[in-house]
Amino acid sequence: MRLVALSHDTDFAGWRDSARAALAAAVPPGEIDWRVGTSAASDDLFANSTTMPENAAPTNAKVPRAFITLAETVIQHRDVDRFALLYRLLWGLQFQPKLLEDASHPDVHHAEQLAKAIRRDIHKMHAFVRFREVAEPDGAAAFIAWFEPDNHIVEAATPFFMRRFTGMRWSILTPDRCAFWDGETLRFGEGVSRDQAPTEDRLEALWRTYYANIFNPARLKVAAMTREMPQKYWKNLPEAELIGPLIREAASREDIMVRAAATTPSAQTKAEAKRRTPSAPRTEAEPGVRPRTLEDARAQASDCRRCDLWKHATQTVFGEGPDRAALMMVGEQPGDREDLAGAPFVGPAGKMLDRALEEAGIPRGEVYVTNAVKHFKFEPRGKFRLHKTPETGEIQACRWWLESERALVQPRLTVALGASAAHALLGRKVTIGKERGRISALHSGEALWITVHPSYLLRLPDEEAKRREYTRFVEDLAGAWRWLAESASA
Ligand code: URA
Repeated sequence: MRLVALSHDTDFAGWRDSARAALAAAVPPGEIDWRVGTSAASDDLFANSTTMPENAAPTNAKVPRAFITLAETVIQHRDVDRFALLYRLLWGLQFQPKLLEDASHPDVHHAEQLAKAIRRDIHKMHAFVRFREVAEPDGAAAFIAWFEPDNHIVEAATPFFMRRFTGMRWSILTPDRCAFWDGETLRFGEGVSRDQAPTEDRLEALWRTYYANIFNPARLKVAAMTREMPQKYWKNLPEAELIGPLIREAASREDIMVRAAATTPSAQTKAEAKRRTPSAPRTEAEPGVRPRTLEDARAQASDCRRCDLWKHATQTVFGEGPDRAALMMVGEQPGDREDLAGAPFVGPAGKMLDRALEEAGIPRGEVYVTNAVKHFKFEPRGKFRLHKTPETGEIQACRWWLESERALVQPRLTVALGASAAHALLGRKVTIGKERGRISALHSGEALWITVHPSYLLRLPDEEAKRREYTRFVEDLAGAWRWLAESASA
């Protein structure tokens, strides 16, 4: 048995060099003991190998790019077998170049599971790190966060914060590694203990207010909240203190809503009785197996890599609403607030939509609300993240989720809010002015209603135009709701 000592937990370069040398010397996987230690591995270790099996690996080993990506990810896992696992895969690839396509192979499966855990861990770090303000010796403001990742992900996860908080000086402290950003350079150092991170500051009150504001029981269900926020992270989050009271308040508010609904049956409730029977998913052929439930769809989408937007967003923002709803509303993409909250239409455009729905007589709790694109696309500008319109390729890539939602929720009417939503639903560019406010059809034959996006109203500079356009928007929504009621009783 040969001992290979790697210099640190994520020493990919050390593993790669030793693995190459081992492969060139035809050392089979079972003969290497991979450890993380102080002395670096050396190519000489394998120079005198006497093991030359008949099926010895070629010395000019080639590996697919996908393997390198997988290996760079898997190496961040705490699994002590990870280095050996990767070498077994590397060895196997020399004889079976398409090995990685064999998802049932135990090593391929295991490596994919580890990579998935890493992606999830990085996602959690992006979502749950909270900075606290501290004064630097020179009086300037700096921000510190404490976080305990499950795996060795600090190097991989922190460039996200650098892009997001470019103008701030910040440090993220963890037990394994720490990351420091001074506005120009990102540096890493040894891990520290928890007591080195500050616990109180004035930002807490701000966070709590923000958090209480985005928690609206009519749309953010308690389950949705707690699902994405494992208890493990609560202690680091100032807003966690609010969860108990908010849940209790939500329960009583929901109770009132349920009782009110029971005494005044809505047009939608009547329409529900006339719903058609479930049909098969109705989209063009796309790779992948359609999720069977919304819960599955949401879980799968949280790991979506169908386009690159996930890289800079905090999280996937999936649709919300009843599992079966006669009315589905589709927006463009989550905004800054939605990206942080993990729920659609909770920011300024959401407030505008809420108001218009109420005036149109549509109970928001009966509508399934989602977006054409499930990740926030933005351009960093100092402290701000400016919305960027998604491109056709991103809309197309995300149609998989929108069509999965439509297949599961089975709305009788889908309302497209704005051009991107209409584009996603119809597969072509749409001039809203020409097609809004009337019933039309999707390719599948189902009913579509197009109107403007509430953000359009927010952007109008002139108050008079704002009032006029808002009234039109409410009329469009009321027209859609009327169509639903009339088509149900026809
Ligand atoms: N704009 C959208 O299109 N969707 C949201 O969820 C928020 C703003």
